[in-house]
Parts: sequence; structure tokens; C-alpha cells
Amino acid sequence: DNMRSILQKISNNIDLNKEDILYVLESKDKIVFDALIKTADVIRKECVGDRIEIRAAIEFSNYCIKNCNYCGLRRHKNQFRYRMKEDEILKEVDKLYKLGIKTVILQSGEDPYYTTEKIISIIRKIKQKYKMGITLSIGERTEEEYKIFKNSGVNNYLLKIETSSEDLFEYIHYDSKFKTRVKHTEWIKNAGLRLGSGGMIGLPKQTLDQIADVILFQKDYGVHMIGFGPFIPTKGTPFESEKTSDLDLNLKVIALTRIVCQNVFIPATTAISTLNREGQTKSLLAGANTIMLISTPEKLREKYGIYSEKNMVDLDFTIESIKYSNRKLPKYLNYDYIQELGYDIDKNL
Ligand code: 5AD
Ligand code: SF4
Repeated sequence: DNMRSILQKISNNIDLNKEDILYVLESKDKIVFDALIKTADVIRKECVGDRIEIRAAIEFSNYCIKNCNYCGLRRHKNQFRYRMKEDEILKEVDKLYKLGIKTVILQSGEDPYYTTEKIISIIRKIKQKYKMGITLSIGERTEEEYKIFKNSGVNNYLLKIETSSEDLFEYIHYDSKFKTRVKHTEWIKNAGLRLGSGGMIGLPKQTLDQIADVILFQKDYGVHMIGFGPFIPTKGTPFESEKTSDLDLNLKVIALTRIVCQNVFIPATTAISTLNREGQTKSLLAGANTIMLISTPEKLREKYGIYSEKNMVDLDFTIESIKYSNRKLPKYLNYDYIQELGYDIDKNL
């Protein structure tokens, strides 16, 4: 039957085509689901091993000039806004460094207040003081800026395609164009930055066909970090009354992404842990190998409300997700310091 030949292809290292991916996405068969997840877990082990990569995100500004229809940070939404100062950001980075974290993600809405000069100043200071990788996630900038960021020491740039369907992209965005997003994706790669992409699953009007396409898009563009997370309707946005995404569909997408893209970083997203308390653990068992710790100062954290009821993925929660997935914590964490902070963790995990 179909699934048998798909599994055959995978074990013979033959690329899955769109029909194969669509077959799995459409199937309601529990046996197909279980076989897919198991296979993705095997491939994950072969490609990236058992250790979870922990990265930390500092959400340094929730100002945004854009109006994406799904997002709780959109400009038209009335809410408390904050901007962190350079020294506040650096203080947070220092904490992460002491924890042993190797990559920090600097994330914000599209906020022109942080000029190229301001961003570069932060990057340079981090690079001077710490041996850390830096990921920028600050929205669309210019071709020139991507190059400047690269030359200042930025390693990765996260700009999600969200969907590779032009129609759907423009339906969910109020003021972003699909062709522009693709162009930026290419600029980022051409600047020599490693590309983070991915998108939302279960968007209003999104078809399984479009989901198959967006998985293949990641492979075509050589994406290094692929974050697929569930769409969650958010109060105060045009999509507030839409349907919440389905957990199992999201797990299928993670599994297919691992099978199709192989040696890449796939995060167990904060959004999936918002959907289901065990969402991250289930993701780690379905092909994911990365967790992003939210490291925004506590007072501001709840204000970065991209979507409703956003889960607080702190170190405790991260360790719990990893523990239940029977995977290994990264060796580089500073366990003595973590215990000093009062976390009860087993070094042998
Ligand atoms: N549900 C899930 N993810 C969302 N994002 C924004 N709004 C939502 C939502 N309602 C994610 C998108 C975007 C990032 C800023 O957060 O993937 O790229
Ligand atoms: Fe702004 Fe990004 Fe939210 Fe769009 S998705 S409104 S660009 S923070």
C-alpha cells in the first residue's frame, strides 16, 4: 500500500515527492500517523543525535509597524508597548552566558526605533564579551542591512515565510507581500547568514496542499532552522474567532520536515506548548531537536503577546519537556549555576 512504499522510499534514501507528503497529511489512519512519527524519530537520531539544543530568545521590543492579521503585536492592536535598552539586553545576555547557553535570539516586532547602528552596537558588544552565536529576528530589513549584520557578527537570521502560497500569504498579511518576503529570504542567504524560516500550520483557509508546499519550500531554500508552529487565534486581531490549529497535524508537519530536510534544526515551539502542555515533548518525539527558552525579563514577558495564553517557556518547563521525551540535556549548560538559581535538575539527564 501507499504508506509501505513511502517508508520504503525513506529507508532507501529516496526523496519524498509532494504526493507522498500530501498522502500522509491527508491520512486519518492511526497506523500511518504512528509509523510517520517513529520514522521521523529514527531519522532525527541519525541526523542530529539525542541531545537537545537549547537556545534562548530575548524579546527586546514589542513595538511593530506591521499589521499581520494573526498577530497580537500588530500595530492596530491597543496594548502596552515596551522597548529594552541596550544595557538591559546585555544584562540578559550575561545571564544566559552564565547558564552556558550558546546561541541567543534577539527578537522584536518590526521596530525602526532600533536603527542599524543601535542593532550593530548591541551585536558588537555581545561578540566582544562572549563566545555566543547570535540570531536576529527583527523582521524585514534592507539587503544592505543583512550584509552589515553579517559583517558585525550575526550568525543566523530568522524570517519566517509563514506560507509559500502567495494567495494565503496575502490573505493573512495586511501589509506584507509574498514576493517581497521571498526576496528577503534570498537576500538573507546571499548575505551569508544562516536562514531560519518555517511558518504557521492550521491558518484560516490553509489547505493540506499548501502545507505540503511550505515543507518543500524549506528544502528548496536550504533553510537551516525550521520552525513550524500552530496558528492560535488571538484576541483583538482580525483572526480572533478563527479555529485553533490541530495538534496532530502539527506533529505530522514536524515529522515530515525532519524526513524531508534531514540535518536541520527543528524547534519544539512555544506555540505548540501553548496548544497542549505536552506539545513540546511530543514534538521532540516527532523529529524536533531544539527548544527556545524565553528569556525576556519577567515583567515584560507577558506583554510580548504574539498570541493568546502564550505559554511561559522557562528553564523549568524546558527541562520538564526534555525529561519526558527521554532525550539528553546539552553538555554545555552550567549545571552548578543552574542549581544555584534554585532549579532542581539531574545532571545525568
Ligand atoms: N499563532 C501562532 N503563531 C503566531 N505568530 C504570530 N502570531 C501567531 C499566532 N496567532 C508567530 C508567527 C510569526 C511570529 C512573530 O510569531 O510565526 O512569524
Ligand atoms: Fe509584527 Fe511580526 Fe507580528 Fe507581523 S508577525 S505584526 S511583523 S511582530
